[in-house]
Amino acid sequence: MTTARLTPHERAAHLGRGRLRRLVGLVDHDDAADPFPVVGMDAVVFVCGNATQSAHYFTTAWGMSLVAYAGPETGQRDHKSFVLESGSARFVLTGAVDPASPLADHHRRHGDGVVDLALEVLDVDRCVAHARAHGAVVLDEPHDECDEHGTVRLAALATYGSTRHTLVDRSRYRGVYLPGFVPRAREVVGGPRPLFQALDHAVGNVEMGRMNDWVRYYNEVMGFTNLAEFVGDDIATEYSALMSKVVANGNHRVKFPLNEPAVGRKRSQIDEYLDFYGEPGCQHLAVATDDILAAVDALRAAGVEFLDTPDAYYDDPELRARIGRVRVPVDRLKSRGILVDRDEDGYLLQIFTKPLGDRPTVFFELIERHGSLGFGKGNFRALFESIEREQAARGNL
Ligand SMILES: [Fe+2]
Repeated sequence: MTTARLTPHERAAHLGRGRLRRLVGLVDHDDAADPFPVVGMDAVVFVCGNATQSAHYFTTAWGMSLVAYAGPETGQRDHKSFVLESGSARFVLTGAVDPASPLADHHRRHGDGVVDLALEVLDVDRCVAHARAHGAVVLDEPHDECDEHGTVRLAALATYGSTRHTLVDRSRYRGVYLPGFVPRAREVVGGPRPLFQALDHAVGNVEMGRMNDWVRYYNEVMGFTNLAEFVGDDIATEYSALMSKVVANGNHRVKFPLNEPAVGRKRSQIDEYLDFYGEPGCQHLAVATDDILAAVDALRAAGVEFLDTPDAYYDDPELRARIGRVRVPVDRLKSRGILVDRDEDGYLLQIFTKPLGDRPTVFFELIERHGSLGFGKGNFRALFESIEREQAARGNL
């Protein structure tokens, strides 16, 4: 077993192994014995209707730092891309400039959403060869891209819907992101920064009856293992139901829960997502923070809206007994609507935003882990009932 190596990005963000163990459940893993060794998430790439304003939103409200840019001024005529960072998490926000850009058409069909969950890998060619041998669709063959800062080796695999996994080996590259991008700085002062330190998990909503196919895809193509599953009563309310299984890479930096709708009395949140996104896609991104209270306060002050949690959730004696002692009095969680869950390893605090864009599709989760490596199973019912109230208000339940 080899000790998990820190990425240059994590070192730059002053994240050590102990902190990453706490934040995202990083574990040691033997890369040499792994057929598809993934270092971690490289970037989450969004297509936005207005990337210029989305970049403003993520810097001002979410406290992210703008670090790089590509657009017409840098020779990119088709679109603009803004690269933002928070701790070791990197988001790339892209929007069409040319009306004929395929990105404009993508946005018309899907609205704002995640198009690429890019993975940093040790050996792009070896990963692609393994993926192809196990039935993956290779969208981009392995190739080099170079500039004065070095060479990046890239390829891309298809996953659910029109989502892709770009594979990136940046071990021979010293530039700010990728060739074609120039450094661009904008740090917004004020409040605690950064509000989150890493990406914890990225959830995919897939077609009814296809969850196990996609779990098998990650098992066979990428050598991911199954962390958890939630079926039946775990994940049903009076009205709607879904099923979920979680796959993770060897060192657990990358965790992909996969949801499918299950038959219920009314339409589930997954059905609503699939109707409005138009196909399977990324449902939510969970970002890991070491101070969820400060993060929620800063985000609320900046106008970010969270799902409501009824007071009854905190007054439930069963919940009080189950969660035991957490780092702050429960009243401080109640006043912010932060949820708590506990399992045999510890506890976690979490909260969910309302959908980020105009469509009821992608949203964010903030998660503060204290030993628990779970996903908040004990909160699913309260969370889903809250989502259903929103769905009903939109006329989609
Ligand atoms: Fe989550």
